[in-house]
Amino acid sequence: MAIGVFDSGVGGLSIHRALVDRIPEADFIYLGDQKHAPYGERSGEEIVELTRQGCEILFNAGASIVVLACNTASAVALRRLQSTWLADYRKSVGRPVNVLGIIVPTIEAATGLPWEHEAERRGAKIENVDVLGIFCTTATARSRVYEIEIDKRRQDLAVFTEPCIGLAGMIEAGESEEKLRAVVDSRVQALKTRIGRYPDRAILGCTHYEIIGDLFRDALPEGTPLIHQPSSVASALERYLERHSKFTVGVSGRRLFLTTGNAGKQPKIVDAFWGAPLTFEIAT
Ligand code: DGL
Repeated sequence: MAIGVFDSGVGGLSIHRALVDRIPEADFIYLGDQKHAPYGERSGEEIVELTRQGCEILFNAGASIVVLACNTASAVALRRLQSTWLADYRKSVGRPVNVLGIIVPTIEAATGLPWEHEAERRGAKIENVDVLGIFCTTATARSRVYEIEIDKRRQDLAVFTEPCIGLAGMIEAGESEEKLRAVVDSRVQALKTRIGRYPDRAILGCTHYEIIGDLFRDALPEGTPLIHQPSSVASALERYLERHSKFTVGVSGRRLFLTTGNAGKQPKIVDAFWGAPLTFEIAT
């Protein structure tokens, strides 16, 4: 068995890299649904169905756990799949399988609180509000998951999400750094205008953006802390596997990279992030 890592395209590699670093002996199967990328402007129904299909491909290929290395799929599809599909699917395959998202560990890292914690609402005036900026896709912003879940836990943390329309698609297409930088700069400035100042901290809440993390670091004031989603997810997965030994994930360090799109090389910007040329095989 293996750990499956799913994204609409190459963005999930940012999560995958952190998982591989943390659990190098495990077998990994990566799937980018590049035929349907990007997801960020799609309807909720489409995102749910595409995510379900991606999970099935990974389970069929031998995954026991699928990590949705995609904020959009985690925000829009995970709960629906858990409530409408996963239990029946599990019965049909007759072995333990599960799907995990990446938003819970990210919110735990942002709030510094375990997921179970809900703040008491005392109605007192809160001073010294910390402002958290989250760059994400339109679908993630529309779900309001970050605002809602953080507000339940920390009333002294104000969340502003900034959709970066088209940016994930540009990364998939291997656009030039100059063009990517122009979009990143404009979204950071748009967020600044909306808040009235720069955020105190930020999250790259679309896994594609981590691939061009330096452009966000350049656009934000020097030293702005970025909550690192990949390492939060890696820690959460490690703890999850320790608690749930029924999910076996292999020990031979096998790596397989699949795509629903065209087989072959990935954009240079992705190779640079990965540190070596990457080739994807066609998922069957
Ligand atoms: N990488 C994904 C995310 O984290 C999806 C981006 C997209 O396909 O639009 O949201």
